[in-house]
Amino acid sequence: MTGTTTDAASTPLFFNPLQDGYASSPWSHFDEMRNGDPVHDSFGARWFLFRYEDVTRLLRDPSLSVDDENITVHDELRLAAFDEAFADIEPTRSMLGRDAPDHTRLRRLVSKAFTPSTIAALRPVIQEMVNTALDAMDERGSTEIVGDLAFPLPFDVISVMLGMPESDKQQVAQWSSALVKTLDPIITEEEVFAAAAAERNMRALLSEVIEWKRANPADDLLTALIQAEEDGDRLTATELRDQVQLLFVAGHETTVNLIGTGIHELLQRPDQAAILRDDPSVEVNAIDELLRFVSPVQFSRRITLQPFEVGGQQIQAGTFVMAGLASANHDPEKWGDDADEIDLRRSSPAQHVSFGSGSHFCLGASLAKLEAQVAIGSFLRRFPDAHAVGDVVWNGRINLRGVERLEIAVR
Ligand code: HEM
Repeated sequence: MTGTTTDAASTPLFFNPLQDGYASSPWSHFDEMRNGDPVHDSFGARWFLFRYEDVTRLLRDPSLSVDDENITVHDELRLAAFDEAFADIEPTRSMLGRDAPDHTRLRRLVSKAFTPSTIAALRPVIQEMVNTALDAMDERGSTEIVGDLAFPLPFDVISVMLGMPESDKQQVAQWSSALVKTLDPIITEEEVFAAAAAERNMRALLSEVIEWKRANPADDLLTALIQAEEDGDRLTATELRDQVQLLFVAGHETTVNLIGTGIHELLQRPDQAAILRDDPSVEVNAIDELLRFVSPVQFSRRITLQPFEVGGQQIQAGTFVMAGLASANHDPEKWGDDADEIDLRRSSPAQHVSFGSGSHFCLGASLAKLEAQVAIGSFLRRFPDAHAVGDVVWNGRINLRGVERLEIAVR
């Protein structure tokens, strides 16, 4: 590992998300990196960017790739486990890992389902799902907010959009959770093997679902994508399966953190919760501020295709570079001295990079915002005296960091 040395101790800085306290509050660690080594070379194999300016530049630069096949500077330890565990698994063809022209074609096909009017039309469906969850909480007088609302809402919404048949939600959630662990910068060998097993199971399930849907077409996204595949060479069978998997997993593994962690943070700040509860006009701004503060996806990624100069450092071609979205979202250079505070009336919080930036900007951004507006706003209005009971449990993920369990008394 190289890295800028700190003046006092001359010890190279080392970004270590496994440090004690990181899960509950990574913010001081990002601070340290932004100040000490904002363009950080980790073990000569992957780089991390921590400043807003550098992160946005990286994400928006069209000369960079997202295709892992372009990585030539390898993290040998990581690679060995992945090579073995994924030996029989074809790399995914999802748009998130494809460059133009494939990316452009895939994104165009899927984006038809995410137009502003299609998403806006989902509001009553989402409101009804939220109301049902809140009714149950009201009856019990308490809730475990992730299991009762933050997880099932986005899961059910994307299932309805796709037209998925009823599935074993817990089983799918477990596979999906094992899968997204591969997005973490540090992962154990056991987790790599669990992720590979989950990938096989998820692909098998989705192939079955696609076959079932061919026989049972309906007015839904999955049928529309199947038609695009059947129409000829616009979408291959593998591409179809992998776009569905991306939508299914991205559709809930991220929004759960915005809703669950967002509610957790607001319950700790009653003054901010009151702003959102009492002033509906602040709702849109408030959700962007929560997106900025929570950063449900903490890192995105790009791969250099040619030498890339950033922050006075030269990164060689073929290198995996992690864009510190959460760190950029807390960079005082961009947000001011209160970057680590929640201010639901902050001006222009929508300049956060929680959804990434550039050609891979999150396709589900408006859907995620709508779900969070309805879920968080309705929860706070229905239960003005809600308060956490017991300690929050974090999900232990570095990238898709969020609350795993939080017991709340609603009165
Ligand atoms: C709070 C919730 C969400 C967050 C924070 C989030 C974040 C992100 C991020 C960071 C990226 C990569 C952007 C980049 O590298 O520039 C991304 C891509 C993507 N997201 Fe989301 N996402 C969320 C919800 C959703 C939902 C609900 C869906 C769909 C139902 C979705 C579908 C996608 C897709 C399809 C891509 C790939 C876009 C492309 O490669 O062109 N996301 N998201």
